[in-house]
Amino acid sequence: MGTKISLIGAGNIGGTIALLTAIKNLGDVVLVDIAKGVAKGKALDISHSLPVLQCNRKITGTTSLKQIKDSEVIVVTAGVPRKAGMSRDDLVEINLKVMKDVGRAIKKYSPKSFVIVVTNPLDVMTWALQKITGIPHSHVVGMAGVLDTSRFKFHLAEALGFSVQDVSSSVLGGHGDDMVALLRHTTISGIPLEDMIKMKKITRQKVNEIVKRIRTCGGEIITYMGTSAYYSPAASAVEMVECYLRDQKKIIPCSAYLRGQYGVKGIYVGVPVVLGANGAEKIVEINLKKDEKKEFIKSVNSVSDVLKVAKKLI
Ligand code: APR
Repeated sequence: MGTKISLIGAGNIGGTIALLTAIKNLGDVVLVDIAKGVAKGKALDISHSLPVLQCNRKITGTTSLKQIKDSEVIVVTAGVPRKAGMSRDDLVEINLKVMKDVGRAIKKYSPKSFVIVVTNPLDVMTWALQKITGIPHSHVVGMAGVLDTSRFKFHLAEALGFSVQDVSSSVLGGHGDDMVALLRHTTISGIPLEDMIKMKKITRQKVNEIVKRIRTCGGEIITYMGTSAYYSPAASAVEMVECYLRDQKKIIPCSAYLRGQYGVKGIYVGVPVVLGANGAEKIVEINLKKDEKKEFIKSVNSVSDVLKVAKKLI
């Protein structure tokens, strides 16, 4: 077997990740799901697309967590997604139980893997999974910032009428309603967003509307389709898998463990991270202005509140 990628949770996000890894030819995939038949069915369905995708990889599905043995990468999406009217934090109790089951299995069968957590509430579930597995913090990270940033880039590019590929930006903080879009560090083909505002390509009001929208667009999608987003979360997780496996060392916003960076200790929260073959290799500390720092700390405090609840439950 070549590179082994295990996906724990073969629901909407897990299934989409499996397809995208095949499209990108990243490795052999093991889909695991507690629901009988789901992982097997999706693995067979995706396998049927391999000749068309020109991908010579093996995709298997199982209910047995033993099958994750010696994976290089594990992506955890197991758990329950939110429904209309729910916040991500409402899932803490139910998904913490799932993290316990999944975490014990990772510790037993694949303690050397690089683990990406997608299950919500993201920052707290990432903390819990690291605690349960005992895997070094550099090798357990959460997927949120890539998605939040991608959403921001998309809406900004749309409003400006420019290519999504030209927008560069970063979103910091917890994966929740307090996430912080770094407007000062946003550029469009190298041109600062502030200059775009001065050049009247976009109004400050429109930018503020977009910032507001990326905080709530996850909920907007739930109201449309009754369950939470999965194409963009899956694409974002795959970006992280690729960065790790191909040692790309891109600066990617993800939920990482802070040891005093940004003045924060002992918590997982979204920050820019250099992702490469050694996992979360470096946390990039951007100099924040007073108001940006204030917003960031507000977001950290929201994560801390849910973490307190999780610590009691664990
Ligand atoms: N072990 C393995 N699989 C599990 C377990 C478990 N202990 N508990 C639940 N699952 C599986 C479910 O059977 C389901 O197929 O996890 C899958 C989750 O898939 P979906 O319900 O389709 O949810 P999805 O949209 O993929 O989101 C997964 O990611 O973004 C977060 O909020 C989202 O927490 C949710 C998670």
